[in-house]
Amino acid sequence: MIEKNVCLKPYNTFGLGAQAKLMARVDSVSNLQEILADNSLHNEPRFILGGGSNILLTKDIDALVIKNEISGIELINETEDSFFVKSGAGIPWHELVMHCITNGYAGIENLSLIPGNVGAAPMQNIGAYGVELKDVFHVLEAVELATGNVRSFSASECEFGYRESVFKRKLKDEFVISSVTLRLNKQANLNTSYGAIDQELERLGISSPTIKDVSQAVIGIRQSKLPDPKVLGNSGSFFKNPVVQTVIYEELKTKYPEIPGYPAGENTKLAAGWLIEQCGWKGKVVGNTGSHGKQALVLVNYGNATGVEIFNLSEQIMKSVYDTFGVQLEREVNVY
Ligand code: EPU
Repeated sequence: MIEKNVCLKPYNTFGLGAQAKLMARVDSVSNLQEILADNSLHNEPRFILGGGSNILLTKDIDALVIKNEISGIELINETEDSFFVKSGAGIPWHELVMHCITNGYAGIENLSLIPGNVGAAPMQNIGAYGVELKDVFHVLEAVELATGNVRSFSASECEFGYRESVFKRKLKDEFVISSVTLRLNKQANLNTSYGAIDQELERLGISSPTIKDVSQAVIGIRQSKLPDPKVLGNSGSFFKNPVVQTVIYEELKTKYPEIPGYPAGENTKLAAGWLIEQCGWKGKVVGNTGSHGKQALVLVNYGNATGVEIFNLSEQIMKSVYDTFGVQLEREVNVY
């Protein structure tokens, strides 16, 4: 069924009230193919919506919004050391993480509580606490919008980078991801090196953690810093952490000895949250929006913000970080 003039407020984690001209919910590949083949819809531009957790809507969507609700989680194969788990793209990411933890499939415990759906995970190679989707990715299936054909993409074909993939670049708006298959471990290989996890486990009094304990620790850390989109509209980190030449980082360090920097190949990754905080934005309220008081990298909607207001705030933040540090921030969130 095609719905008309749908308010998208419940479908984006910023809680922005843009309207979709038309909306089709699809719950299977064949259902999606039917919509793509429907002649009466052929003249409509298409817009693919997943969990709406990485989008800033600055205007109404004068298009057919295809809401991906393809579900199902299945153990499709097992080898001596791995489980291959296939998930529909419309499953909320955290639901998949919980399913894996309950069944003892290890590898995505550090990615607990990330908002959004499974289909969005490879789009921007989600990552947190030292783990990225690409570390556990096996294969995905996607439907080509122009033809309705299903194609598989291996990890190398996805061209994963830091919050990047081929679906955000070369193949932008060409495919709808329908399923993602992960290769998870039978023997947990815990990654608690990200300082805060060890501290949280210690606080919880856990000395030999299980994947469930690591997940609980990550959930605790995230809840202490990141606002719950159900309570306060937001889209996680609004900007990427900028990667600069190490000589630039060294120069900045002579002027700002406290500046955090992490090796990224031969370059250095800076902490955008730190740069934004130094410019005085952390916790600052601007109209109906602002930078979150516990994590400056997160922009929030205090209730009645428009996408344009949030976009304008992001421009101001980018300008002041550039004027102060000479570093250009890039948005992680997709702006429409
Ligand atoms: N920092 C500040 N002030 C702030 C925020 C951070 O000084 O307001 C400093 C921290 O003290 C720390 C450094 O910045 O030295 C890094 O902070 P944090 O560990 O909170 O992580 P992040 O770099 O801000 C990234 C991801 C998050 C992910 C965390 C944990 C990006 C853009 N963001 O944030 O991902 O959860 O690491 O791994 O890479 C997301 O992408 O939406 C997201 C939440």
